[in-house]
Amino acid sequence: MIHYPSDSPARTVTVDLGQRSYPIYIGSDILGRFGEAFESHCGRRRAVIISDQTVWDLYGPTVEQSLRRANVETQAVSVPPGEKSKCLAMVEMIYGRLFEFSTERSDVIVALGGGVVGDLAGFVAATFKRGLPYVQVPSSLLAMVDSSIGGKTGINHPRGKNMIGAFHQPQMVFADCATLKTLPARELGCGLAETVKHGIIRDAAFFASLEANSQPILALEPDRLIELVERNCRIKAAVVSADEREAGLRGILNCGHTIGHALETVWASRGGDIHHGEAVSLGLVAAGRLALRRSLLRPDELERIRQLLGSFRLPVRIEPPGGPEAIPANADRAACALPGDLPEIPLATLYEAMRHDKKVQAGRIRFALPKSIGNCVFQDDLTESEIKQAISSLGE
Ligand SMILES: NC(=O)c1ccc[n+]([C@@H]2O[C@H](COP(=O)([O-])OP(=O)(O)OC[C@H]3O[C@@H](n4cnc5c(N)ncnc54)[C@H](O)[C@@H]3O)[C@@H](O)[C@H]2O)c1
Ligand SMILES: [Zn+2]
Repeated sequence: MIHYPSDSPARTVTVDLGQRSYPIYIGSDILGRFGEAFESHCGRRRAVIISDQTVWDLYGPTVEQSLRRANVETQAVSVPPGEKSKCLAMVEMIYGRLFEFSTERSDVIVALGGGVVGDLAGFVAATFKRGLPYVQVPSSLLAMVDSSIGGKTGINHPRGKNMIGAFHQPQMVFADCATLKTLPARELGCGLAETVKHGIIRDAAFFASLEANSQPILALEPDRLIELVERNCRIKAAVVSADEREAGLRGILNCGHTIGHALETVWASRGGDIHHGEAVSLGLVAAGRLALRRSLLRPDELERIRQLLGSFRLPVRIEPPGGPEAIPANADRAACALPGDLPEIPLATLYEAMRHDKKVQAGRIRFALPKSIGNCVFQDDLTESEIKQAISSLGE
């Protein structure tokens, strides 16, 4: 169970999965105390820290030293930063290092980094010698509010993202919001897109608090960040606890992702520069349009969704060709549009990409659509023309 020191500034959210339940610790400037939490959960077992080079350079030594202070022996492996590291070759490289370290099943993997490292290290932990325990130390907002919770681990295959993987729950999640100070603004935005999604699908009051606090959140005020991460974790933990293996309810987390994934895949395959959270932001607007059409959402509610995403500097529309004037030259991503060429990407291509998503069942595309703000319903009878219309409307 949970034995975090009582003087700790960390908040705790529990992912309730019976025997496999685990805590998520959330605080600010707590990384130096990671060793204590590790030791109280995992004992003095050896730790193998897996990280990416960027995160390792910033935070690896702090984590390593805190483990050593707790008398935990450590080894470390790092991979290049970025989605390309979520591949089989990198898994093999890490297996090789684990053999060199004489890693045993009693050792613990520590995933220190964003969602890429979490998914990759989690997959290694799930498979090496048929499974090692692991701990998540998320350093990106997306990893803190989404990918580190719920036990989905995996890598990409040339035929599709996240196609090879395993469910493997961590022993604990340890999130230090102070690490977000070094996270590039665009990456912060990607985490905020998932945050807005959580409000839309599950919690109207949380959505309203995001509307009221977007500026302090963007300014990385520690208390606001801790609260933000905690509330997100409560939502994701509740969904995962109710449906660990995505037999039903967990599918609501895909809200905005059906169209979002298709945009991300097609755009990226054409050399376009789009991040997952940006695609999700556009996907949420498109899902909102579908919901509006089915009278699940009111126009003013769709407008609130667009406004909130925009206030987090996320794209809510795609600029038609020749019209990127809305994008300030100094913007890291300070505008609400992606310079794009949607009209040049045939809608049929996007629709095809959606049909190849692994969430498609019996040929039917199942959408999780907002039902007012704070609720979500599944809809699998949307017509091809309705879907294409919703995508086209992103250019308006
Ligand atoms: N398992 C799940 O349930 C789940 C859910 C959502 C997303 N994901 C996966 O998560 C991945 C995306 O995660 P991500 O957005 O964190 O990407 P990421 O891990 O690539 O991190 C983004 C970038 O930020 C850098 N970074 C991370 N933390 C930093 C920090 N504190 N300071 C400075 N730089 C930092 C990284 O080096 C990287 O360059 C995708 O592969 C996606 O499929 C998994
Ligand atoms: Zn996502």
